[in-house]
Amino acid sequence: MKEKLTALLERARADLASAADEKAVEAVRLSVLGKKGELSAVLRGMGALSPDERRAVGEIANRVKDELEQQLAAAGARLAEAKLAAELAGPGLDVTLPGRRQVLGSRHPVSRTLEEITAIFLRMGFTVAQGPEIELDYYNFEALNFPPDHPARDMQDTFLVDPASLGAQAPAGPVLLRTHTSPVQVRTMLAHKPPVRVICPGKVYRCDSDLTHTPMFHQVEGLLVDAHVTFGELKGTLDAFARAFFGGAVKTRFRPSFFPFTEPSAEVDVTCFLCGGAGCRVCKNTGWIEVLGAGMVHPNVFESVGYAHDAVTGFAFGMGVERLAMLRHGIDDLRNLFDNDARFLARL
Ligand code: DAH
Repeated sequence: MKEKLTALLERARADLASAADEKAVEAVRLSVLGKKGELSAVLRGMGALSPDERRAVGEIANRVKDELEQQLAAAGARLAEAKLAAELAGPGLDVTLPGRRQVLGSRHPVSRTLEEITAIFLRMGFTVAQGPEIELDYYNFEALNFPPDHPARDMQDTFLVDPASLGAQAPAGPVLLRTHTSPVQVRTMLAHKPPVRVICPGKVYRCDSDLTHTPMFHQVEGLLVDAHVTFGELKGTLDAFARAFFGGAVKTRFRPSFFPFTEPSAEVDVTCFLCGGAGCRVCKNTGWIEVLGAGMVHPNVFESVGYAHDAVTGFAFGMGVERLAMLRHGIDDLRNLFDNDARFLARL
């Protein structure tokens, strides 16, 4: 056994002397000192020896172990030193090379547009109201005078929320992702007596995806209710907004339209800010660009929020933020705004 141990030490010493890297050193350590290593095997065999022999062999084994550990440490140190020396002797560091520039992010164009729209209305005395994106069918449709079979309720457009996914919080009526910011009108009027003057910016969801539609987009809703509010005031307000947003030379045009929650309703165009109305690619040669929907609040809506509709009148409007951002920046594929390619966004 003594011979075995000395031979083992000699071999390990030779292996370590020729070890070229840390892996080789570790392999030697494992082959001798590891659980399945040779020294461990010898120690396990000691049970068969007489007490005297056992003491003698134990002593040698301990010495071999100590010696080996020293050798291993020395080999490790030798390799680390050699590595450092090689690095110092190498080509070195060129401190004159240019550094790596940090790419700076910027506010997203949709956020900037949303903030700009909000700022314009805040200057006109509106305040900001908010509501949930997961909404009751009641606020999104019913209280806004959508008849039960109205096509906008079609499952093609509306993301319905599985009530089971809401657990114990599931309300009684159907739940959906709001398809527009108009339900915030209803929530605001239920919470406040007239007069009301709010805008409601936020995310809305529709099951739709192509060049000009994404399943999530942003709208800004506006609502003004007071005694004797007129369509003329709606026109004046939106005129002022259009001039502030698109520039002082822009004119508006109101075309008759239909929304369940307004009567009368209008679609609002602005003169093309690119060609000034002469006709170009952006306005498809019409000289006009449609930018929002608006109208006088329908009496049925007042009824659903408990406002006496012989005492107040009001106007409402709604606009798509991505659409305004696209017009502003001349983008023709809406998805560019959501790909989040920093090089594209930085150019806007
Ligand atoms: N909620 C409408 C939509 O999503 C936009 C709208 C039109 C809002 C007319 C209004 C309005 O408040 O009066 O298409």
